[in-house]
Amino acid sequence: MAPLSAIPADVRCARDYERLAADALDPAVLAYLAGGAGDEITLLRNCQAFEQATVIPRVLRRVDSGHTRLTLGGRERPHPIFLAPVAHQALFHPRGELDTARGAAATETGLVCSTLSSFTLEEIAAVAGPDRWFQLYAQPWWAATLDLVRRAEAAGYAAIVLTVDAPVQAPSLRAQRAGFRPEAAAAANLQAYPAAPARTLAAGQSRILQGMMAEAPGWDDLDRLIAATTLPVWVKGVMHPDDAVAALARGAAGVIVSNHGGRALDGAPASLSVLPRIRAAVGEGASVLLDSGVGSGSDVFKALALGADAVLVGRLQACSLSVAGALGVGHMIKLLREELELCMALAGCATLADIRKVEVAAC
Ligand code: FNR
Repeated sequence: MAPLSAIPADVRCARDYERLAADALDPAVLAYLAGGAGDEITLLRNCQAFEQATVIPRVLRRVDSGHTRLTLGGRERPHPIFLAPVAHQALFHPRGELDTARGAAATETGLVCSTLSSFTLEEIAAVAGPDRWFQLYAQPWWAATLDLVRRAEAAGYAAIVLTVDAPVQAPSLRAQRAGFRPEAAAAANLQAYPAAPARTLAAGQSRILQGMMAEAPGWDDLDRLIAATTLPVWVKGVMHPDDAVAALARGAAGVIVSNHGGRALDGAPASLSVLPRIRAAVGEGASVLLDSGVGSGSDVFKALALGADAVLVGRLQACSLSVAGALGVGHMIKLLREELELCMALAGCATLADIRKVEVAAC
């Protein structure tokens, strides 16, 4: 189905875009988007964790001077919702990341542009609003990694988000079974860089450990990256309190608690369920974002109550893009924000700081 040029009439909540995307997308692309790693245990856990967390209504409180503003990453923001880095968006809409960026700009939403975007980071920057960060996958050659960073700096991205949880990507069985062809997905930013060095494995060596993981980044690469740029560096894909503490101690601007939307280590817990321990370990002053499973404004509320400063949305972004392009992305954010405000009103919270004081029964 061709993407719509208007907001569909039957969208009542942000999650409705998931339902409509199922009709808009080719089945193999839908499987790539919706699927998770392995048996999709973590994918399911992410959703269950949000479902099981409960919010107790509080009554007769005044919230009429309330708002959803926050200051994060050196910027005052109208709401705590970001667009997560999502690769290969031309699979979902012919204008891909360009329309996502327009939807983000119209709603003053932080945009995190993937290394693996269908359009170049410069093309995206040309249509994006000022609130844009660049997500970095370390490349097999440091020179290429550094070149991406320099390009992001030159194109006005305000932060680097180093993704560390998928040095080797577990293939989605759902996507494979649906006939998704990874080669259909181009990465415009990487066209100019040489391929990874060819490796010949000795007898008994592992295709994964000595092969695919040979060029994977380590803690020393985080140090090298932080030293190489004046931009703040966030670390995305942190699930253990010790890793969060270590990243911040090395100079990261903040951490993103994430299991890659259930697309990396299958069997990992829900990101929401590890969030309270991570917040307790890093302290109140540290910047902590969360993604993986956010599908409604009440999910945003629960994540904030359990310790996140803000959240990112991945699949929902791609679903809204596939249905109605920039309009869909902007509309989805508007709905999420209103759902958050509704939850705040009924839970008696006037501000995001009030949400942090709410006791949410975690999963
Ligand atoms: C992703 N994600 C991702 N993350 C990243 O750091 N770089 C990337 O290029 C991608 N690409 C990507 C493609 C697709 C199709 C999906 C669904 C996800 C992970 C993403 O940033 C985020 O962590 C999850 O999507 C969050 O979970 P939800 O919101 O999809 O449940």
